[in-house]
Amino acid sequence: MTTSDTTDTTTTTTTTTTPTKGTTTMRAIQFTHYGQPTVLETVELPRPEAGPGETLVRVAGTTFNQVDATIRAGYLAEVFPVDLPHVPGIDVSGTVVAVGEGVSAELVGQDVVAFLPMTGPGASAEFAIVPAELLTRAPKTIASTDAAALASSGLTAWQAIVEHAQVRPGQRVLVNGAGGGVGGFAVQLAAAAGATVIATASTRSRDAVAAQGASQVIDYTTMPVVDALTEPVDVVLNLVRTSPEETAALVSLVKPGGVFVSTTTPGVVPPGVDVRTVSVFVRSDAAQLAHLVQLVDAGELAVDVSAYYPLDDLATVHALAEAGELRGKVVLTPTSR
Ligand SMILES: NC(=O)c1ccc[n+]([C@@H]2O[C@H](COP(=O)([O-])OP(=O)(O)OC[C@H]3O[C@@H](n4cnc5c(N)ncnc54)[C@H](OP(=O)(O)O)[C@@H]3O)[C@@H](O)[C@H]2O)c1
Repeated sequence: MTTSDTTDTTTTTTTTTTPTKGTTTMRAIQFTHYGQPTVLETVELPRPEAGPGETLVRVAGTTFNQVDATIRAGYLAEVFPVDLPHVPGIDVSGTVVAVGEGVSAELVGQDVVAFLPMTGPGASAEFAIVPAELLTRAPKTIASTDAAALASSGLTAWQAIVEHAQVRPGQRVLVNGAGGGVGGFAVQLAAAAGATVIATASTRSRDAVAAQGASQVIDYTTMPVVDALTEPVDVVLNLVRTSPEETAALVSLVKPGGVFVSTTTPGVVPPGVDVRTVSVFVRSDAAQLAHLVQLVDAGELAVDVSAYYPLDDLATVHALAEAGELRGKVVLTPTSR
């Protein structure tokens, strides 16, 4: 992995600000208590100031992730304790408009992308605080809005396929749940590593998943994946919440010496079976994100945004997700005023 494009954030110590239409407030989406998507409301908040080690970014794009919905509903209050009111949104792309103490002033004006801390204030706002150590320059070859779609999903896919599964040429890799935000990157990264990729997707995601490099797409709505697979695989990446029976069936598809990697339900291996299991807990990693940016700019990794919504529609996006009506990676953009 190369780190050459990781932005140097560590030199000068000036705080710089760029006025925005003479206002020091910003539009944001927040929730003051856990609950249904309707708890998400548009508010006017003071524009934050970059503290030591931080940057202030004018947000071009943020995303929806399943974890946003579970945090909003209060299901993860112990795992990811957020302060209420909370501004959600863990992915951010945009332009640095100010830096805090200890951060290079050269960052001001740069287009950047970052995966934000899960429990801090998020990017569902016109401006977001981004720790300098977490950001990297945005890809030059895609829209600034779209770069947000790369951050947490791209990092999850990289960490699953490259770090944990260590996919090699000639292997067979099953990506279960390839129609989602992580799956789109995972299929591409596994195919780029030289693997034969088998993916599960429903009709709405079939073409996208095939274009991303899957040589076989199994429609999970018409047949169980275990019935559709004729040969075992070296790697299963499970991106779907599965029952114990479904998880066991997926583990049974892995060859001896292979690996079951999950971002959701952990794999359980029967006694005496030579299969490794890994549960992924994605971490923010600016150097790794810089490498993903390089792949994008080299035309080797596509950022496939399935839909755009104005930030004010965040509650609608959460409701659509809960109804199973979102596919792929959705980007939200702040409404200008
Ligand atoms: N542990 C971690 O660090 C970590 C990090 C990131 C994500 N995650 C979790 O990993 C999961 C995937 O993330 P994501 O962002 O890719 O989710 P996502 O974008 O919400 O994925 C939704 C997709 O899952 C597919 N799907 C739903 N039920 C399925 C089934 N029974 N079989 C196969 N595919 C099915 C659908 O694809 P179709 O369009 O084909 O119907 C849908 O588009 C989520 O649960 C997320 O919370 C965990």
